[in-house]
Amino acid sequence: MEADFWLQRWRENQIGFHQAHTTPSLERYWSTLELPRGSRVFVPLAGKSLDLVWLAAQGHRVLGVELSALAVEQFFAENGLTATVHESRYGRHHVAGAIELIHGDAFALDEAALADCSGVYDRAALIALPPATRARYAGELYARLPSGCRGLLVTLEYPQPQKKGPPFSVEETEVRALYAPRWDVERLERRDVLAEEPRFVAEGLTALSSAVYRLRHRPG
Ligand SMILES: C[S@@+](CC[C@H](N)C(=O)[O-])C[C@H]1O[C@@H](n2cnc3c(N)ncnc32)[C@H](O)[C@@H]1O
Repeated sequence: MEADFWLQRWRENQIGFHQAHTTPSLERYWSTLELPRGSRVFVPLAGKSLDLVWLAAQGHRVLGVELSALAVEQFFAENGLTATVHESRYGRHHVAGAIELIHGDAFALDEAALADCSGVYDRAALIALPPATRARYAGELYARLPSGCRGLLVTLEYPQPQKKGPPFSVEETEVRALYAPRWDVERLERRDVLAEEPRFVAEGLTALSSAVYRLRHRPG
């Protein structure tokens, strides 16, 4: 989606994607990545997700990136965190303890910015993007992560004709086509979540599943 679309969503507080709790599949599966404490985790399209706080509480250094200044401000204010701010070619970096959140465009981050990230976490990021941008996200942005990097990806699957995205439905075949050239992809879970999402039922969806994948960036 265009930047303006997201900035407007934040201005109008149309942020139904935001959760007032940590993502359960993050809590359930993160430890299976076996990332040591102190390792840095990249969180693209971060919003004001409480998952950033949870990852920091596991001992990780967290690097988020988010387009909306409002989201960034709200993240620190709502979590009672005071950030120091500095600018770089990537945007405005807000740093509080182990959490660094860049107000900027994820696609502007280069290999140098991501060099020490050994983890990556995506909830509602890939599925926020239309098909052509998903290809750039996986093929270009994820390609800048170091080899050996491990991550979790959480997606949604539903009959796409029943609803316009975002969130978009991203099926397993697409996930594999997007990541398999450079990443090992393992599906950990697929779960029917329709009953947990009354707003999607109200929009006419007759099926909705969430899937969780473990990713590992192969060398080379
Ligand atoms: C569906 S929300 C998900 C946010 C978060 N991952 C969560 O789970 O709550 C997608 C977020 O990505 C942000 N976004 C969209 N395009 C972006 C880009 N190119 N760079 C950084 N952030 C972006 C939007 O402003 C929005 O907050």
